[in-house]
Amino acid sequence: MSETPILTMPPGFLWGVATAAHQNEGGNENNQWSAWERRPGHIHAGQTCGQATDWWNLETAAADFDRAAALGLNSLRLSVEWSRIEPEPGLFDHAVLRHYAEMIRLLRERGLEPMVTLHHFTDPLWFGAQGAWEGDLAEDFFAGFVAQVVEALGDQVTLWCTINEPTVYAYSGFLEGTFPPGVTNLRRALSVLRRMILAHGRAYRTIHRLQSHARVGLAHHWRVMLPRDPGRRADRRAAATLNRLANTAVIEATLTGQLKPPLGVGQRVTRLMDTCDFIGLNYYSPARVGFDPSAPGSLFMHQGFDPSAELSDPTPTGEAYGEIDPTGLYLALRQLSDFGKPIYITENGVPDHDDDVRPRFVATHLAEAWRAARDGADLRGYYHWTLVDNFEWAAGWSLRFGLYDLDPDSGLRTARPSAAVYARIARANGVPQDLLEEVVPGFVKGYQSEPRLADQPTRAILEETGP
Ligand code: FCB
Repeated sequence: MSETPILTMPPGFLWGVATAAHQNEGGNENNQWSAWERRPGHIHAGQTCGQATDWWNLETAAADFDRAAALGLNSLRLSVEWSRIEPEPGLFDHAVLRHYAEMIRLLRERGLEPMVTLHHFTDPLWFGAQGAWEGDLAEDFFAGFVAQVVEALGDQVTLWCTINEPTVYAYSGFLEGTFPPGVTNLRRALSVLRRMILAHGRAYRTIHRLQSHARVGLAHHWRVMLPRDPGRRADRRAAATLNRLANTAVIEATLTGQLKPPLGVGQRVTRLMDTCDFIGLNYYSPARVGFDPSAPGSLFMHQGFDPSAELSDPTPTGEAYGEIDPTGLYLALRQLSDFGKPIYITENGVPDHDDDVRPRFVATHLAEAWRAARDGADLRGYYHWTLVDNFEWAAGWSLRFGLYDLDPDSGLRTARPSAAVYARIARANGVPQDLLEEVVPGFVKGYQSEPRLADQPTRAILEETGP
């Protein structure tokens, strides 16, 4: 069958997979997550990260890089583990930095352009002892570490992600309490978030001082806020408010330097201005937001999933994670394109052990990404989360996000059908018509006439929630 890409991405588009040090390397014992895993009651079924996918072993990593290259990918996002590189404050392990340099050489050798994340949820234990992101020296510590990494890897890496999902780190660790340190305190959550954004700005300048041609951004978990009842003005306003608080405030801070609520009271921080070469978008699922007069504690807003909502792609997953909504990706990209910066989708994926949902998930989300690019988003790349099943934080090994299934006992990898689907897309530099027809019968037809997915509400939401 001929592959006819109807939804072609621009030349040079990066097709990748996203990973993270703690979730893949194994044996990271010197960070706050491993300490958290050792204490009972924190991780699903008492599981631990253990050897993860064994990537600290370069032979295993190289074999997985072979898999990524064989899928036709040309990029891979990974993170470096601060606690390995700087096991004690100010003490940098150059053997570890050389190990990472070798890991990156293995990627490049296979035609995989590295995107390196400098902080992906894990902090060295010593950093925690200094107050972590609440400590006065947090920005200095992080910048010192970043400088060492750029010195060591800068000859091979130009695409940098400073911090992964500051809002999720702050929310899960300091408000919801499901991530370490397990705190539930809004004031502390906001102070951590603000500090991380400031540290991003400092890291941006550190990287550019050492590498003028670097491209630097942060990976933001952009939660698409949909009104629970699109016909109800109060719900639309609640969704728009939450969008400003959880999404646009973060991106705007890195562009204008202004700390709008909840990051601050509108003060401008010069050193944060223009610290965004690209926007990293992590998109999984939307939230349904309703106005709730009985909930002053949550600013009169209720946020959650609506199982009865009419979904743009109503395919339930066996693994509870959230709504599957490819149109949400379109919305996120359109909202982000207003900022006028290049965008990389730095994460997108679904937990699906049986892979009964992922093939169409990949195809429909990329079709929607294409539609957003057609409509003006400057989209440069897509990183699927993830290549091989890995350690999913508080959910342990219960959520399987891999294009490859992993048997953690034997280390055996088995390609899921979605790996071949993604490979066809990456090789065609777009979503082939035949493929869409196969995985989502009827989908293409909709694309040939008017975009099939809920365009009326989309326009209304864009108007209401635009930055
Ligand atoms: C994101 C995280 C990533 C992974 C995916 C499923 O929020 O950045 O590490 O856990 O979710």
